[in-house]
Amino acid sequence: MQWILICIICASFLFTLTAQWLRKSRKYESVNSVASSYDSWTNDRLLENLWGEHIHLGFYEKPRIKKDFRKAKVDFVHELVRWSGLNKLPKGSRVLDVGCGIGGSSRILSDYYGFDVIGISISQEQIKRANELTVNKGFCRFEVMNALDLKFEKGSFDGVWSVEAGPHIFDKQTFADEMLRVLRPGGVLVVADWNQRDAKKQPLNLFEKFIMNQLLIQWTHPKFSSIEGFKENLLNSSYCGSSVETSNWTKYTIQSWNESIYEGFRRPSSILKLGMGSILKAVREIPTILMMRWSFSRGLMKFGVFKSRG
Ligand SMILES: C[S@@+](CC[C@H](N)C(=O)[O-])C[C@H]1O[C@@H](n2cnc3c(N)ncnc32)[C@H](O)[C@@H]1O
Repeated sequence: MQWILICIICASFLFTLTAQWLRKSRKYESVNSVASSYDSWTNDRLLENLWGEHIHLGFYEKPRIKKDFRKAKVDFVHELVRWSGLNKLPKGSRVLDVGCGIGGSSRILSDYYGFDVIGISISQEQIKRANELTVNKGFCRFEVMNALDLKFEKGSFDGVWSVEAGPHIFDKQTFADEMLRVLRPGGVLVVADWNQRDAKKQPLNLFEKFIMNQLLIQWTHPKFSSIEGFKENLLNSSYCGSSVETSNWTKYTIQSWNESIYEGFRRPSSILKLGMGSILKAVREIPTILMMRWSFSRGLMKFGVFKSRG
């Protein structure tokens, strides 16, 4: 069994290097390259079949706790709602989900908390799929929109929520400004993102630079902020009404990287039924997932959560 695992991991590294050599990397070029990556990740159904309707990490209260990966993702949403104080908003409050994926969080915010939610994503295919998956369409709607150019008036929302969209965005200051601009004074902002260690405090060594480059080019990321850097972006915004609180949730989320690989073995039919192309695509993701796991365990990457008031 151990040898089979080692062979799969070696094959996956070879496969990723070959794909890169054939210039099939998913390097960030513009907002359009993010849109087309997510269009293709949505259409092939691999992500959805394997990891469900939430494209984010799960929440594990304790290390190595046994919990279904999909349940951990739902728990993550509830934990973030509680931590941010979003649950203090009354039913019917207007909430914007920035970079909503196929609407996993939006549907919980609408169905469980009774909010009136709009989810936006740069990917047309994700919005199509989000609409297909949503029953309660009156209070949970989706639109294709760029997070850097939100088509809403100043102060339109009581809450703004964004999970794991920031790493795909080059201009972090405009990202922060736009979310705070559309938030009403006193409204709740909550962001959860993958962040890099603050390189000003501890520069990256050569090996870390190599790993970081892989984490960027494999999944269409232009750059990662540090927790300190994005906090600064929020505080620098002229729309920021109060202080910004942050926390490092790496210890609660790191188990997700292992789980995302185990899911392939727990639910083999979710990949096999999609055919050979999807099996190869799934294998190609293994090295990036392992590098993410390594980076988060070494403090090179950190899972940052941010909350503020408009
Ligand atoms: C890792 S997924 C997270 C999806 C969702 N928040 C979830 O937790 O299931 C990143 C999301 O950010 C979106 N995104 C990236 N850049 C964007 C941009 N400039 N404008 C709007 N959405 C963007 C992607 O389309 C995708 O839906």
